Amino acid sequence: MGRPFGGWHEDPLWASVYDWTVEHPLIGGVLWKAGLGSELRRLYDAAAEIGSLPAGARVLDVPCGGGVALRGLRVGQGVQYVAADISATMLERTREAAVERGVADQVETVLADVVDLPFDDASVDLVVSFTGLHCFPDPEAAVAEMARVLASGGVLTGSALLNDTGLRFAPLRFAGRVGGLLGPGCTAAELTGWLAEHDLSEVRLATSGAVGYFRAVKA
Ligand SMILES: C[S@@+](CC[C@H](N)C(=O)[O-])C[C@H]1O[C@@H](n2cnc3c(N)ncnc32)[C@H](O)[C@@H]1O
Repeated sequence: MGRPFGGWHEDPLWASVYDWTVEHPLIGGVLWKAGLGSELRRLYDAAAEIGSLPAGARVLDVPCGGGVALRGLRVGQGVQYVAADISATMLERTREAAVERGVADQVETVLADVVDLPFDDASVDLVVSFTGLHCFPDPEAAVAEMARVLASGGVLTGSALLNDTGLRFAPLRFAGRVGGLLGPGCTAAELTGWLAEHDLSEVRLATSGAVGYFRAVKA
């Protein structure tokens, strides 16, 4: 377990706490409802899209965190699953989760910053980015980079704390920024604008409490 404070790459205590909540549907679900006004189940439902990919497809999970999205990957699916994060400890958790779920043969972990992904243009079929955009210093650049690696017809799906979900969540966003864990974030309109600017259409965005779930298709 990390130090009480610090940026994500330093594995602060909060990173372990956050990861514990997403991996425990019952208690974590209650905490999400109380703290974020959001249904944790929505995250699991969005991750389930991974299970619809055909064998040979390539998925990028960034930021993968402790690997919560792996629950969408099926044993023996034959997918190339690349899990990327700026935290080496989070990547280690993802590797452990992959072993526990019996999908380690499909999973590769990569230490990377979301704004500088070591992947070719148009080389990924599905990018999943859960609870991530609000953590990045430059969420617009992150959207651009995720769009860059996405193949034509590929899907970007993810979630983020949005800035325009009400005053109730303002203290949470403020504390996260002061603690160095949250970046500037964005509003729903800013996010849909960035998606459109980077050739992502068929945009769907729905909020669940403080969290916005988005999905878009690369032209
Ligand atoms: C709230 S967690 C979400 C992780 C996971 N997707 C989930 O839903 O549980 C945010 C993650 O973003 C990672 N992160 C923060 N800044 C990053 C960056 N610039 N590039 C890549 N990952 C980053 C952190 O290390 C952390 O694992």
